[in-house]
Amino acid sequence: MNSQAPEATPQHAPSVGQPYTRNDEASHDLSIRVRDLNLWYGKNQALTDINIDLFRKNVTALIGPSGCGKSTFLRCLNRMNDLIPSVRTEGLVEMDGQDVNAPKMDEVALRRRVGMVFQKPNPFPKSIFENVAYAPRMHDLVSRKADQDELVEKALRSAGLWNEVKDKLQEPGTSLSGGQQQRLCIARAIAVQPDVILMDEPTSALDPISTATIEDLMDKLKKDFTIITVTHNMQQAARVADYTAFFHLGEIIEYNDTKVMFSTPAKKKTEDYISGRYG
Ligand SMILES: Nc1ncnc2c1ncn2[C@@H]1O[C@H](COP(=O)(O)OP(=O)(O)OP(=O)(O)O)[C@@H](O)[C@H]1O
Ligand SMILES: [Mg+2]
Repeated sequence: MNSQAPEATPQHAPSVGQPYTRNDEASHDLSIRVRDLNLWYGKNQALTDINIDLFRKNVTALIGPSGCGKSTFLRCLNRMNDLIPSVRTEGLVEMDGQDVNAPKMDEVALRRRVGMVFQKPNPFPKSIFENVAYAPRMHDLVSRKADQDELVEKALRSAGLWNEVKDKLQEPGTSLSGGQQQRLCIARAIAVQPDVILMDEPTSALDPISTATIEDLMDKLKKDFTIITVTHNMQQAARVADYTAFFHLGEIIEYNDTKVMFSTPAKKKTEDYISGRYG
């Protein structure tokens, strides 16, 4: 446990014999390390003293009331906040031991390593095939047409969409249903073989069946990727996340193994929020 970050490091390592699905050794392999992260939009501070370790090949859920800084935090992990002129940050965000804000960090390469899926499915106005093939081509991950076909199929299969689209790959991505479009966006994200996938409320625009499909998918994808997802749905956090961080007014109030946090939250604020008494 890191003494700098007592609140933000899971307090209870999962013990052997408990009904956790993950392999304990893998679950404690560090992917992202955040220390003393502060962020301001102009004069307004949106993140305060964020300390958190995010574990590889796990799902971590970020929960908390609207405006508490969840999306802002996600954008610190792939430097998307750089695109907002008023933003100023302090502190350390390390991915696999590398400072993501270091001048030598290649932002394009970083965004390949950290994929993102948004609340509203946003396929490009191109074919289903091109939605998946475009980024790998841009990043020079494929040269031959056959490799490209194979990669597109693999990504669509991993996103659980292949069977539904294999006979209409040239149709526009936007012709799919909302849930299919979201899986297409997931296929697009995984096609460049990222290490981390950020998901900002990936199911909030979807019906319950599409939501369940994406939740199942997250469970499968964590075998290969580190997933950090934002949700307002407490049941979803409890179902999909190995770890959960509760944000409130720009701070992390509590971070723990999801099962521990949902059964015995350490802080009253967390308990009030997860039991729906917030506000
Ligand atoms: N581009 C921006 N410019 C200025 N302030 C911003 C910007 N984006 C977010 N903020 C402010 O930062 C704070 C955190 O916002 P953020 O969007 O990160 O919250 P959130 O937890 O994702 O909320 P929600 O659950 O509603 O999506 C809010 O006070 C918000 O108004
Ligand atoms: Mg948000």
